[in-house]
Amino acid sequence: MLKLMMVTTELLPFAKTGGLADMVTALSGALGKENIDLRIIMPRYYNIDRAGLKKHPYPLGVPVPYGYGEEWIGLYEGVLPGTEIPVYFVDHEEAFGRDGVYSHPGEEGFKDNAKRFSLFNKAVFQVCRALDWIPDVFHCHDWASSLVPYFLKKEEQYREFSSSGSMLTIHNLGYQGIFSLDDVRFLQHERDLHSVSTLEYSGALNFLKAGIMSADLITTVSPTYAEEIKTARYGYGLDGILRYRQHDLSGILNGVDYDQWDPENDPFLEPDNYTASKTASKAKVKKKLQKEMGLNTDSSVPLIGMVTRLAEQKGINELFTPGTGSLYSILNDFNVQVVILGSGEKWCEDEISRLASVFSNLSVWIGYNDRLAHLIEGGSDFFLMPSRYEPCGLNQLYSLKYGSIPIVRNTGGLADTVVNYNQETGEGTGFVFDDLNPHVLYNVAGWAVSTWYDRRRDITRLRKRGMAEDFSWKKSSDKYLQLYKKFGIN
Ligand code: ADP
Ligand code: GLC
Repeated sequence: MLKLMMVTTELLPFAKTGGLADMVTALSGALGKENIDLRIIMPRYYNIDRAGLKKHPYPLGVPVPYGYGEEWIGLYEGVLPGTEIPVYFVDHEEAFGRDGVYSHPGEEGFKDNAKRFSLFNKAVFQVCRALDWIPDVFHCHDWASSLVPYFLKKEEQYREFSSSGSMLTIHNLGYQGIFSLDDVRFLQHERDLHSVSTLEYSGALNFLKAGIMSADLITTVSPTYAEEIKTARYGYGLDGILRYRQHDLSGILNGVDYDQWDPENDPFLEPDNYTASKTASKAKVKKKLQKEMGLNTDSSVPLIGMVTRLAEQKGINELFTPGTGSLYSILNDFNVQVVILGSGEKWCEDEISRLASVFSNLSVWIGYNDRLAHLIEGGSDFFLMPSRYEPCGLNQLYSLKYGSIPIVRNTGGLADTVVNYNQETGEGTGFVFDDLNPHVLYNVAGWAVSTWYDRRRDITRLRKRGMAEDFSWKKSSDKYLQLYKKFGIN
């Protein structure tokens, strides 16, 4: 039976900063239905209650990270809710006993992240040793677990793992875990300090680069993004290295956890749940959303929703920059309503709030709000994702299912999942545009709005077609299983 250790820094319901949490949780849930020995390991952040978890009887020593000796970690065990999949929590007060996963909400990363996550990555091996359980494959995600593949290659210290393989999934190349070269002392034994070549990049430590160089297999979360990251435009400086590893790199589209995201059984939409064949209640959800957000409860006006991290990746400059961003003109020129839920860059939060005080057709919630995210998917007619780049993107998949027609840029997973509206034939599932600039954004919003008013039958067809799409996890998790099988199952 395949022994698989999922190494992650985010998992629902314990910790989430973005789609990585949704992806790892849903993939694990799907894999849990297969005949494999799957276990998950993550840090025990401060907010994760120890009550209800099983405590391992003695602390485990982890070499190096805090100083040059050994550091002691606690080990707790629970399960992924709704499954029997074991989840191991690495406990270390100094590293994880604080608010925030990578930073305090809205701030730059913690100064000691190199230390914190090298401790976690080393702890992964100590935990396997303590459990006397050697996985066939470690499946790691993004920079914060990228050192596991790197450490695995240092065979002397990790001899008993010599038959274990590693897979690294890149969810976002824009975050690489870049630290000062001085931080190398947290990662290695003194005698290794001269050999940092795998870790070093452009005069700094780069965790993701080390992972990409060391992992046996590399995946990313959509086929188009797998191609894009090999180019200078999308490679964030690592495109050369990705081209070097291209034969081991593939793109597997994320699926959707339809247990969480389906208008038919979404508890946040109750009692107005609806389906592809019975969409009448969607209008009620729209009304509820309008009411709750203080908008005019007029069903004839199209409503555009957004749920997003307010980060450059998401196209916020082109949409919100004071003076040049297109949202101002969209609100001013079109008979449309816009609802935005998001948090992130301060200037952007301020500007959106300012616009909301000027325009009665804009309503904003700054912060994180799971319930509202579901309500926006359910209640809006269109869903806007003008991403500069988008490795996969989950919200456009949710909005397809909820009949909220996506308006997306032609990049990454957005390109792989939304089919552009063809005005001649009426075909498609959304509105797709190529260039990212305020002018194009204004035009595409105008195109969607005019379709709403002038070709309503096409809107109904786009919506129905989108709702009928199936992005369930099974197809994607089968592809991961195929890849795991490359690691000689015993
Ligand atoms: P990314 O991981 O790049 O932020 P994704 O589209 O993959 O983008 O995933 C974003 C996830 O985070 C979705 O589940 C989305 O609903 C959720 N999300 C983002 N911002 C918020 C917010 N302010 N409130 C609630 N959920 C949010
Ligand atoms: C990242 C990406 C997003 C992707 C998510 C889950 O946060 O930005 O596009 O959907 O990871 O893989």
